Amino acid sequence: MELQLSEKLNILGIESSCDDTAAAVVCGYAGGSAEVLSSIVVGQTELHSAFGGVVPEIAARAHVEKLDVSVGQALAYAQLRMDQIDAIAVTAGPGLIGGVVSGVMLAKALAAATGKPLYGVNHLAGHALTPRLTGNVSFPYLMLLVSGGHCQFLIAQDALTFHRLGGTIDDAPGEAFDKVARLISLDQPGGPAIEKRAYDGDPKRFKLPRPLLDRAGCDMSFSGLKTATLRTRDEVIAESQGLTPQDQADLAASFQAAVSDVLAEKSRRALREYLKLLPQHPTLCVAGGVAANMAIRTALKQVCAEFDVEFTAPPLALCTDNAAMIAYAGLAQMPYREPDDMGLSAKPRMPLDTSSPTMLGHGKKGAKA
Ligand code: KG4
Ligand code: ZN
Repeated sequence: MELQLSEKLNILGIESSCDDTAAAVVCGYAGGSAEVLSSIVVGQTELHSAFGGVVPEIAARAHVEKLDVSVGQALAYAQLRMDQIDAIAVTAGPGLIGGVVSGVMLAKALAAATGKPLYGVNHLAGHALTPRLTGNVSFPYLMLLVSGGHCQFLIAQDALTFHRLGGTIDDAPGEAFDKVARLISLDQPGGPAIEKRAYDGDPKRFKLPRPLLDRAGCDMSFSGLKTATLRTRDEVIAESQGLTPQDQADLAASFQAAVSDVLAEKSRRALREYLKLLPQHPTLCVAGGVAANMAIRTALKQVCAEFDVEFTAPPLALCTDNAAMIAYAGLAQMPYREPDDMGLSAKPRMPLDTSSPTMLGHGKKGAKA
C-alpha cells in the first residue's frame, strides 16, 4: 500500500528488545510533529526477579504471550481499528535476540495480513529521536543516550544519521545501577531503587572513583566503579558485620553521585567538541532509562547552564523502553527511506553510527539495549 506522506498518519509501534513488551500508536506527519495516542508497556520484572537479571529465554516467551494483547490494547486506547493504521514500525535491534524476533515476527505477520508498510527501526534511534516527539527540538542536537545496555554521545543530524562522539568502553550506567542495587540488596530494576534509597544517603561518605576522567575525550567506563562499590560494601560489612539501612543509603548515594559526576564531566567534554562543530545549535538532549534519574538530570541541567545550552529530557515514561518512540522513529524516518520487505530480520547488534569504529568491548555486555 502506497503511503501519502503529506497526510497525517497513524503508526503502530512494537517494542520487545529487552524486558518490556510494548505497543503504541502515534499520530503525526512523516518527518514532522506527532502525538502519542496510546502507549502500553508490560514489564517483566517479577518474572526475572529470582534470577538477579533478565533471562533471555523467559523474556522471549513473555513477549510472545503479551505482544498481541499489547497491540490490541494500544489500538483500543487509541480508539482505532487495525484498518485505520497507516504503517507498522518495529524494533529490529539491537537487543536480546529472542525478544526482537518475537516483535519482528508479529510486525511482519500484521504487515502481511493487512498490506500496511513495515518499518524496522533501530531501538537506539527510538531513544535518540524521543526529544523531538516530546519537545520542540530541531536537528542537529547533541544526544546523551544512557540506558541499561548503552551509553553514548551522539550528534543527531537527522532521523537516520547519527555521529558518535564517544561512549562506554564496558558497562552501561543502567547495568551498573542494576548490579550495584543487587550488591546492596535493593530490588530490580536497580536504577529507580538506588535513586529512592539515595535520598536518605550521604553522597560524600564513600570515596568512589570517577573512572576515565583522567583520559581526554568523552569515552566512559562504569565497570571499575561497580567493583569499587563492591569492595567498599565488603569493607563496611567486615567492620560492622552487616549493612545498616544507613550504610545502604550512603552506598546508593555515593554510587549515584559518582555516575552523575562522570556523566556531567563527560557531557562538558562532548559539548565542547559538539559546539566547535555546530555552535549555532546549542542543545543537549538526554534519553534512555537512566535519564529518568533526577540527580543525573539536575547535574546535566547544571552543565547546560554553564555552557548556555538548551537542555531537554523526555518525560520519565518515555525515557525507559516504550513503543511510542519506535512508532515515532518509523514516522520520522519515512521521508528518507523505503519501508522494509518480508526479508526484515532481527539483529542482536545494530550500531547507530556505522561509520565510527566499534570501541573495544562497546555494546558487548549487558542484556539490555
Ligand atoms: O532504556 P531502558 O528502559 O532499557 C534499555 O534500553 O536499556 O533502560 C533501563 C535501565 C535499567 O538499567 C534501569 O535500572 C535504568 O535504566 N533506570 C534508571 C532509572 N530508571 C531506570 N537508572 C537510574 N535512575 C533511574 N531513576
Ligand atoms: Zn532502551
